[in-house]
Amino acid sequence: MMNRMAAPEKILITGGAGFIGYHLARHLLTATKADLVSADNLQRGRMDDAFDKLIANPRVRFMALDLTNAAAYGELGTGFTHIYHLAAINGTKNFYEMPHEVLRINILSLFFVLDWMRAQNPGAKICFTSSNEAYAGGLHAFGALPFPTPEAVPLVIEDPYNPRWSYAGTKLIGEQIMIHYATKYGLRGLVVRPHNFYGPRAGYEHVIPQLSLRIASREDPFALMGADETRSFCYIEDAVRAMRMLMESSATDGQPIETVHIGDRNEVSVAALADALFAIAGWTPRELVRKPAPAGSVKRRLPDITKLERLAGWRPEIPFEEGLRRTYEWYKDHPNKTE
Ligand SMILES: NC(=O)c1ccc[n+]([C@@H]2O[C@H](COP(=O)([O-])OP(=O)(O)OC[C@H]3O[C@@H](n4cnc5c(N)ncnc54)[C@H](O)[C@@H]3O)[C@@H](O)[C@H]2O)c1
Repeated sequence: MMNRMAAPEKILITGGAGFIGYHLARHLLTATKADLVSADNLQRGRMDDAFDKLIANPRVRFMALDLTNAAAYGELGTGFTHIYHLAAINGTKNFYEMPHEVLRINILSLFFVLDWMRAQNPGAKICFTSSNEAYAGGLHAFGALPFPTPEAVPLVIEDPYNPRWSYAGTKLIGEQIMIHYATKYGLRGLVVRPHNFYGPRAGYEHVIPQLSLRIASREDPFALMGADETRSFCYIEDAVRAMRMLMESSATDGQPIETVHIGDRNEVSVAALADALFAIAGWTPRELVRKPAPAGSVKRRLPDITKLERLAGWRPEIPFEEGLRRTYEWYKDHPNKTE
């Protein structure tokens, strides 16, 4: 049984309209009695029916704020016990099209949220979402990393001239900012590295949404890129529960702050993923065309999650087939980005 802190009373989620922020807010409403403030400028997050329904809850207050503006934090108020800092620009297309903005937004918002926390909510605890991208460069640079991959592997920017690494750079520097800022000012917090969270309302860029939509539209011949690559997918409800359990655990109160992988041990190839989705859809294409993985794609990703289990006592609860079924059904019903 983990040692738990006093229950959170008021929680801030930055980037609250995004994929993780939305599901985290829903989870916190049932798992805690806290009031929630969800802050987002809707640059990527969406004001859809699901989000409208969430913020209609009297315990949730939505604030439309640009968190790269230091003055915006004054509007948030005080009295927060937990802060989940999720606001960031991600999405591979953005890395290539506006790497300077990815760097500016992700780094400025992290410094501003920490400055505001130190001044207005020094007793709070903060969770920063880094990414498995922080160490993805190590796979390329060294040719191999241990699998499952523990937290303590070198963090590498393979090529600062390649815009692809802009986002990873913000996560790598973001982790250092968190560690040294928290140490200097005695703040409580942690860094989490999400590994392939999936579920409804996850945007339209990742492999599971894209395969789901192409299967739902019965694309035939069906092209499958990088069929032999493997990933370990973590269902979003399990993932946000892990984030809350880590934040509530007194085992993550010490200095220096902890960096913790959140993910699943369940490793599947892209080919097996496609087969599972064909089975859920009850349809198989007549012709399956295998193609190489996109350039720069990482061949294998498998996080070591023993630290998460030790610090939070977390175990996944949603079987992969069930999470996949829920995700497929959602994308079948929401085929358009604009909905
Ligand atoms: N989803 C994953 O599997 C995954 C994997 C690795 C890391 N992460 C990290 O977790 C966090 C949340 O990811 P997500 O999948 O929910 O992404 P997301 O894009 O769905 O959500 C991020 C939110 O931040 C908001 N935002 C961006 N700039 C802002 C600004 N200046 N002011 C206010 N809000 C702003 C966006 O509008 C968006 O709603 C991000 O930091 C991301 O890098 C996610």
